[in-house]
Amino acid sequence: MEILTDPKLLQERCFSWRCKSLSIALVPTMGSFHDGHFSLMDYGRAEADKLIVSLFVNPTQFGPQEDLDAYPRNFERDAQAAREHGVDLLFAPRPEAMYHPDHATWVEVPDLARNLCGKSRPIHFRGVATVVAKLFILAQPTLAVFGEKDFQQLAILRRMVRDLGLPVEVVGRPTVREADGLAMSSRNVYLEAEERSSAPAIRQGLKAAREWVAEGERSAAEIKRRLELFWADRLSKGRIDYVEVVDPESMAPLETIADRALVAAAVRIGSTRLIDNILITV
Ligand code: PAJ
Repeated sequence: MEILTDPKLLQERCFSWRCKSLSIALVPTMGSFHDGHFSLMDYGRAEADKLIVSLFVNPTQFGPQEDLDAYPRNFERDAQAAREHGVDLLFAPRPEAMYHPDHATWVEVPDLARNLCGKSRPIHFRGVATVVAKLFILAQPTLAVFGEKDFQQLAILRRMVRDLGLPVEVVGRPTVREADGLAMSSRNVYLEAEERSSAPAIRQGLKAAREWVAEGERSAAEIKRRLELFWADRLSKGRIDYVEVVDPESMAPLETIADRALVAAAVRIGSTRLIDNILITV
């Protein structure tokens, strides 16, 4: 496995691969790998000639009060794990290599970034879309793989690729979970023991919501109300940041569930913010 930190070298390497008609899968990450990341790598490994993983804790997607400095970093461990998952090239730039001090160009998809995580994290998705666009320009992937755990991020990146006509196929992959249902996340390490033991209730609530719809409930307001009660009972130290029922493509809030709906939530347990979602098809 090759490790590159220089964006120009990455671009040259990928250009030479594309000139040889080799397909490239890109898995963008912020590191601190878990099985969710590995599932994306394994998919990319099987689908393309070359597999690139980027490992970059992207400063522009963190708000001023967020956990940029505290974000878990394990470069040596991550590099070893990437090697074991058949990664050809690990791209790990320094922030200065990705952003000039007077960086001024942004990619934004505001219509899809207004709700859900975008509400409490106003600059987050601008940072995500911009860094992913930059990675696409550098790595020239045929395929880019993202997780459905970050469903709004995936919807925004799909829309960016469509609207800008970028020559890359965006693939979404299912959320990988712990045995008790908690969605794997690099931030789960922040949870204290008691917080960790209540956290699976997030997933249990979302599964209950799917049952309520299966039983005939169609009102988004009623589903939200029941979920708030469900979590109030089970997440003693939890505070709901949002729970929303939205259209899975436009991210627009739904009043009534007709065919497909995404129920998405962010819950703060102690100082840790966890997100999860469930796609419901009637
Ligand atoms: P990060 O949180 O490191 O996640 C990298 C990729 O792994 C994303 O596509 C995310 O959706 C996926 N992922 C995370 N947890 C997962 C799980 N439990 N199951 C399946 N996939 C999971 O998301 C980011 O980084 C950044 O915003 C990034 C896209 C790299 C831009 O900086």
